[in-house]
Amino acid sequence: MAIDQYPEISENQNLRKLHTFGLDFRCRYFTEVNSISELQSALTFAKESSHPFLILGGGSNLLPTKDFEGLVIRIANHGIALLEETSDTVRIGVQAGENWHQLVMQCLENGWFGIENMSLIPGSVGAAPMQNIGAYGVEVKQVIEQVHYYDLEKKEMKILTNAECRFGYRESIFKQELKDKAVIWQVDFRLSKQPSAKMEYGDIKAVLDGKGILQPSPKDVSDAVIHIRQSKLPDPAEIGNAGSFFKNPVVSVSVYDSIKQNHPEALSYPAGDGLVKIPAGWLIEKAGWKGKTIGNYGVHARQALVLVNYGGAKGSDIYQLAKDIQKDVLMKFGVELQMEVNLI
Ligand code: EPU
Repeated sequence: MAIDQYPEISENQNLRKLHTFGLDFRCRYFTEVNSISELQSALTFAKESSHPFLILGGGSNLLPTKDFEGLVIRIANHGIALLEETSDTVRIGVQAGENWHQLVMQCLENGWFGIENMSLIPGSVGAAPMQNIGAYGVEVKQVIEQVHYYDLEKKEMKILTNAECRFGYRESIFKQELKDKAVIWQVDFRLSKQPSAKMEYGDIKAVLDGKGILQPSPKDVSDAVIHIRQSKLPDPAEIGNAGSFFKNPVVSVSVYDSIKQNHPEALSYPAGDGLVKIPAGWLIEKAGWKGKTIGNYGVHARQALVLVNYGGAKGSDIYQLAKDIQKDVLMKFGVELQMEVNLI
């Protein structure tokens, strides 16, 4: 298969700027797609030249540990369409290549509410349903009506309803049965036109109280979330990272009780059925890793759940650090940490 038949495919591209860890890694072939026909053409190239392909969104949940000897397809379709409006709600269809935070800002400007607690989450709209992104008391599953995806086996567009997406904590069908079988292309959201402020989680209320805001608007909540995130999470434009590196582990109450014997201050959140969720950041901090720096990479000093590349680190070193942390937390607390990021 001659590459010159595909002028939109480039060769030997460095992807450092196309993911948030800021690591040097290359792919053999690279292309950006704006339409289904461009996606199909890229897939044809990969098939006929017998190369694997990798779908890339905003690259905010990726740890590259080696070069990719295949075709990276970056989803770059754009557009936000108002599909339906009632007296209380709107339904919007958003193309997967839109930037998540810009969508949140635009919805606030339009008076469409429900996603403001998820301000400043890095990444693209297409990645949001994949791992059911969430922050400060809201998960994206609460506002998704349906997801349009390209079925890689049947080679056609399909639609899943919210229930069919089988959303869970940082989980969906796209990480399970449809892993490597679907390319998320459009997400339809149902948002509210009635402002309401969700501020039960964490520090949001304290930040608003501190500013003397007693009846906050959704924009005030968004500003508070941005303030909290900026105060503890590193900005990927300055320090490479992929947000939370691990999921918060869900364990049985008896495991939690045994941790509490040595650490009465241990935190937990109910997770149903005799289970609790323990903050992984707390476990990693108590195991002594918070702020640990090994050369040009390490564990963030203000949030132990975030591994960072201070510049020039290798993905394989960060992966090794993650495995060392997993081993140590397992030994000290008997809890297995699962990685949230996708490895290459
Ligand atoms: N904690 C520590 N030490 C640390 C970090 C956290 O003791 O180094 C404690 C905090 O004091 C707090 C608790 O752990 O009591 C929870 O911390 P935080 O509110 O920062 O949230 P998190 O559980 O660490 C989760 C999400 C984040 C999301 C925040 C806020 C996961 C894996 N992470 O983090 O999502 O922004 O809640 O809602 O569920 C992401 O997924 O990439 C992400 C950033």
